[in-house]
Amino acid sequence: MSISTPLRVALLSLPWVLSCADGSVTRCTDSNSTCTLREASEEAGVFMGTTSEGAGWASTEIGTLVETHFSSVTTQNELKWSIASAPGVYDFERADETIDFAEQHGLRARGHTLFWHRLSGIPSWLGDELAAAADPEARLRELMQAHVRAVVGRYAGRIDTWDVVNEPLDVFSGNPAPDSIFFQTFERYEDFLDLSFQLARQEDPTAKLFLNEIFPSINEAKFEGLLALVRGMLERGTPIDGVGFQGHFVVQLPDAEILRQRLQAFADLGLLVEITELDVSINLVNDQPDPLAAQAEIYRGVAAACLAVTACRGITTWNVHDGLTWLDRDPLFAPLGPHRPTLFDESLNPKPAYESVREAFVAALARKAAQTFPR
Ligand code: G3I
Repeated sequence: MSISTPLRVALLSLPWVLSCADGSVTRCTDSNSTCTLREASEEAGVFMGTTSEGAGWASTEIGTLVETHFSSVTTQNELKWSIASAPGVYDFERADETIDFAEQHGLRARGHTLFWHRLSGIPSWLGDELAAAADPEARLRELMQAHVRAVVGRYAGRIDTWDVVNEPLDVFSGNPAPDSIFFQTFERYEDFLDLSFQLARQEDPTAKLFLNEIFPSINEAKFEGLLALVRGMLERGTPIDGVGFQGHFVVQLPDAEILRQRLQAFADLGLLVEITELDVSINLVNDQPDPLAAQAEIYRGVAAACLAVTACRGITTWNVHDGLTWLDRDPLFAPLGPHRPTLFDESLNPKPAYESVREAFVAALARKAAQTFPR
């Protein structure tokens, strides 16, 4: 049966629960729906993620908030290499808490991160280990292998996606990070990248392996450098599955269309993409008449950019609520705070940004239902 275009438009504009061609119902598109962000994201088939939050977080009101509104959780700090107090000596208590929580509540677990040269990405003993080695690169390769075996091996089959390498590039350019112990130790930086992904693939062949970077959405040199780096990896056959765009809109707001195009550029290489560390400082919109509404529109644009790219698997906000944001603790950014950059306020109430992201998911669902409407 064919349906005329005006009739289709009239039918689609009714406040009905829309039915997909496969018979499934998109409950969240019902105008009376009270579905949560988690439910909307699950219906849209993308992850809505956030971070774990310090020791014991899962059994507090934060855990309840996370399992209600999010469908994915990223280990914020408890799987960084600094959890090893000495080579081979790990404290997995907090990571176990997060991964157990994810399993109990049906969330996707995102492992962050195997190799990051900054802050707690590096164990305190690593520099001495390499300085004492006759062949520092060979020693670093051994230590990297042992680390991946210990961490990826422990959670094989339970962590769906790994940020294998985090921030391999200089903060504001497309060049390799000059302060990286990996850049300084490996004769060829690409060998470091390739080895990292090869080791992770060996240890858990089912995990999706990502390279995660800061600022590719707002810095063109960074985007171009990242694209070249990843193209090289693909040409060498490095087992990379995806690229994470961190976000962290603290110094500059994103342009949603540019973000979409840059996500699509990696999708065009056959890769998955995700927005992995999203926060939007209120300070960037404080000059607007309604800063919370302006912040919500930035969030809506970022969500819509991801949803417009088929290969985009989802969005993760960095920190669960405004009272927990890393920005208000960071030596560089804290003096400029409070940043209030997340979807929930300090009292755990959803902000306008929560609703705008939910609406972006619902709009995507409605578009999908319209596309599958019988002709
Ligand atoms: O756990 C210790 C605690 O025992 C100690 O008393 C306290 C004293 O300062 O420090 C605690 O550790 C802090 C840890 O966060 C947990 O709160 C570290 O000092 C602090 O450096 C660490 O900051 C984290 C930072 O990465 C460095 O690892 C932030 O929470 C985390 O949000 C941030 O996340 C990074 C991503 O991994 C990569 N992309 C950028 C992003 C923001 O920097």
